[in-house]
Amino acid sequence: MKHLLDVDELSWAETERILGRAAIQRRTLAAAPAGQPAEPVAVGPATAWAAAAMAPLAGRRVGLLFAEPSTRTRLSFEIAARQLGAETFVIDPGHSSLVKGETLADTVRTLAALGLHALVMRHHRAGAPWVAARYFNGAVVNAGDGWHAHPTQALLDLFTLRRALAARDGLADGTADGSGRLAGRKVAIVGDLLHSRVARSNAWTLVADGAELRVCGPRPWLRGWDELAAELAVKLPSGRLIVTDDLSAAIGGADAVMALRVQKERMRGGLSLAEYVARYQVTDERLSAARPGCLFMHPGPVNEGIEVTHALAVGPRSLVLEQVASGVPVRMAVLEALLGGDEPTGRSIGTERAAEGLAPASAPVVDQSTRDLSSVSR
Ligand code: NCD
Repeated sequence: MKHLLDVDELSWAETERILGRAAIQRRTLAAAPAGQPAEPVAVGPATAWAAAAMAPLAGRRVGLLFAEPSTRTRLSFEIAARQLGAETFVIDPGHSSLVKGETLADTVRTLAALGLHALVMRHHRAGAPWVAARYFNGAVVNAGDGWHAHPTQALLDLFTLRRALAARDGLADGTADGSGRLAGRKVAIVGDLLHSRVARSNAWTLVADGAELRVCGPRPWLRGWDELAAELAVKLPSGRLIVTDDLSAAIGGADAVMALRVQKERMRGGLSLAEYVARYQVTDERLSAARPGCLFMHPGPVNEGIEVTHALAVGPRSLVLEQVASGVPVRMAVLEALLGGDEPTGRSIGTERAAEGLAPASAPVVDQSTRDLSSVSR
């Protein structure tokens, strides 16, 4: 594994390895006092061994380039990197040479020349991390590109959901022994699917893990999803993706419902915000049609009172904060897989395909001739 650009570029064995490693890291974090790595107790060679085990990425430099706002994603990458002993460097695109007209390619070449080993990157242009991966000789991690992909969010959502369903149903920790696989589970994603990179990456992991996935929202926001469902039916024949604008069909019998952020400025031309709330808001009452014990998820940031009620967002079914907390161990596992040095490197076939421009049809493609990426909006 050389980069993490999207989840469909990982083999399923790599995905399971990341989730398994995240389960171990989660226990380590829970055991460490106040979130700090435990101090080595032994002396002499054992101390060095223990220190190396606690700081496996000591001496590694991780750059965080976020060209879009972020709270949980950026911070959890930073905490994850530091927890593993790496040094972190925040590159603020608004104060970097990108605003002087430097290309993204030149910026990432510069960052590599300065000795960064990994670049965690969020960008408003779909495909930007693939461009960066061509010019950066370390590891590139996509922390969200345009409307296209958000692989670590999908991994942490899968991790959180497996654990929560296993806990709900009294099963062993699904992530550690595989018993939490989502075969037979029904999951609904409701909201602004058109603009959601979270939904696109989640569709791959949830369907690949065996869930029946229902995606639901107003028709205009389902554009491109029938095509994606047809593509997944070929690539993941045992999975199922249902596209519907009928909320009760999406929620009926669901084990988990994930709401997506609905932005006021995106309502034009279709439904009004009030109509959206009336037809699609996820509420405790509406979840009565779901499976008893149905769980609620949201990648955040949440607009309470729009895509979900306050009561549900903060209530006992809600996994919202659990999702945030899972971000640290899952991103630790990703950084370890990329920088730990225990695996052969090399671009996967998926990376080559994406670099050739085979991103989902609904995703805008990066114009590599753009000189000033920071000033270009979608
Ligand atoms: C999302 C994102 O930025 O893609 N949030 C996140 O990373 N947890 C979702 C959103 O912005 O609506």
